[in-house]
Amino acid sequence: MNNLPIPAPEALAHSQCLHQALFDEISGAGGWLSFARFMEQLLYAPGLGYYTAGARKFGAAGDFVTAPEMTALFGQALARQAAQVMAASAPVVLEVGAGSGRLAADLLLTLEQAGSLPERYYILDLSADLRQRQQQTMATSAPHLLNRVEWLDRLPEAFTGVVIANELLDAMPAHVIAWREDAIYERGVSVDGAGIFTWSERPANGALLAAADEIDKQCSLPPGFESEISLAARSWAAEWGHRLTKGALLLIDYGFPRREFYHQQRGRGTLMCHYRHHAHPDPFFLPGLQDVTVHVDFTAIIAAAHPAGLNLLGYTSQGQFLLNCGILDRLQEIPNGTPEYIRAAGAVGKLLMPHEMGELFKVIAIGRGLDETLCGFANGDQSRRL
Ligand SMILES: C[S@@+](CC[C@H](N)C(=O)[O-])C[C@H]1O[C@@H](n2cnc3c(N)ncnc32)[C@H](O)[C@@H]1O
Repeated sequence: MNNLPIPAPEALAHSQCLHQALFDEISGAGGWLSFARFMEQLLYAPGLGYYTAGARKFGAAGDFVTAPEMTALFGQALARQAAQVMAASAPVVLEVGAGSGRLAADLLLTLEQAGSLPERYYILDLSADLRQRQQQTMATSAPHLLNRVEWLDRLPEAFTGVVIANELLDAMPAHVIAWREDAIYERGVSVDGAGIFTWSERPANGALLAAADEIDKQCSLPPGFESEISLAARSWAAEWGHRLTKGALLLIDYGFPRREFYHQQRGRGTLMCHYRHHAHPDPFFLPGLQDVTVHVDFTAIIAAAHPAGLNLLGYTSQGQFLLNCGILDRLQEIPNGTPEYIRAAGAVGKLLMPHEMGELFKVIAIGRGLDETLCGFANGDQSRRL
């Protein structure tokens, strides 16, 4: 970690405050904290967490780049799918975890051009800091549409329309599990004599043990296998069972179906941190100054949503989804050979190429009351199974 950029003194002081808050919470809890709680605080501790405090986060000056930040063509392609769902349900969008607000602006501008403007575009984000940034982005990029955007403080009780979330599920707290010879353990965080965070294990129990046991039975894990289970992502998906009246959730994220997520070759899990465009696996590094994520087990998402009354409407790679939504047609609308075209073509390459984001990222559509095939899933490999 020695080669990573050194934070400014005030950022370091901020990180030390969060370190102290975590230290106090671990002591108060008897010396051990579940990693899910630790991750929740790293990202969302009020005023201190990575997402809840003022770190730059997205873009070249931040820690990582997401698809909407790379090119407006991502939102333009997604708009085609959103318009279809709205036409079959209601002209309303809810974006959860809207980041800088870039996707909201691109979607609204494209839907306006296509004559499919939603009546309301709701945004729900845990981060008050990001809510402000979303408002600024809308005010700068689409000021005439700002009056359609409304920020929510919680999920609506009932919703008809399209729910969109890009890289939301990977930012939800996850438990870390070790399947050992004698038992299944939950890995948590303690503090050693020098005040340094260390991993320590306790026997898993309750819903977590049941989930870990089921995965073991399905995937025959070798002893010593370590990975994550996000109960938070599962309950978020299940929540929609009683909230979504008609429409679809379009969830885009990096991850795998279960048999690949818990594949023997991935025996150290998927926990990953992003700090100034460096990816590494140490969640104890500079608390509050780096993003901490886990990949998504998409099988778990549909397995949670289905008993809650929702159906799987589609599941494919991001590359295939964007092709189906006409991203290349959109690219061709930019005059060939211009700097804008060259920039956009580079970004589209990254979004589509299997060795970049095209295959690791998936799109899942879950919903209720829609009969027609969704355009984003209409062509391509239909043999993907969850
Ligand atoms: C990795 S960022 C992705 C941002 C944006 N969608 C993008 O693609 O650039 C995750 C976002 O989800 C938000 N978030 C995480 N958990 C959330 C939850 N349960 N409800 C609402 N927002 C959440 C974070 O505050 C952050 O804006």
